[in-house]
Amino acid sequence: MTAAVPISLEVNGERVEAHVLPRVNLADFLRDHLHLTGTHVGCEHGVCGACTLRVNGEIVRSCLMLAVQTHGASVETIEGLSDSGEIADLQLAFRDRNALQCGYCTPGMLMAAQDWLRQKREPDREEIREHLSGNYCRCTGYQAIIDAVESTARARTGRAP
Ligand code: FES
Ligand code: FES
Repeated sequence: MTAAVPISLEVNGERVEAHVLPRVNLADFLRDHLHLTGTHVGCEHGVCGACTLRVNGEIVRSCLMLAVQTHGASVETIEGLSDSGEIADLQLAFRDRNALQCGYCTPGMLMAAQDWLRQKREPDREEIREHLSGNYCRCTGYQAIIDAVESTARARTGRAP
């Protein structure tokens, strides 16, 4: 059996030192080792987007990344974005627009939406739809999610929601 290897990374601004087996993916490492269960796992092969989070500022599928690959990296999960208040307005918009039902897709959806809102200050609906097309939702039919992201973009740029 392969031995666990030491890794050192930053998770939501805090230093984490751990020993992890090379085969363990980042999503499982965060959930099982660090108990950060806000990152959800759906398909486990890069399709559904439920496991989306940030590594060094870029969104990634954490089911497709090995934990050992994050040695020296900065990882931000939905817990980090939520606790810092970075996405407080987006979370409120999701609630107000009924953009979540079971909530399984929501952490990944919020990570992907925030990523796009950081890149594009005034996205139109088609652009939002395109950017979120890699995140599956079985409940909402997507319209309410697009509404929530669009209204957040409008509010952040001082336009009427
Ligand atoms: S669980 Fe990672 S993309 Fe579906
Ligand atoms: S709210 Fe249930 S999967 Fe999106």
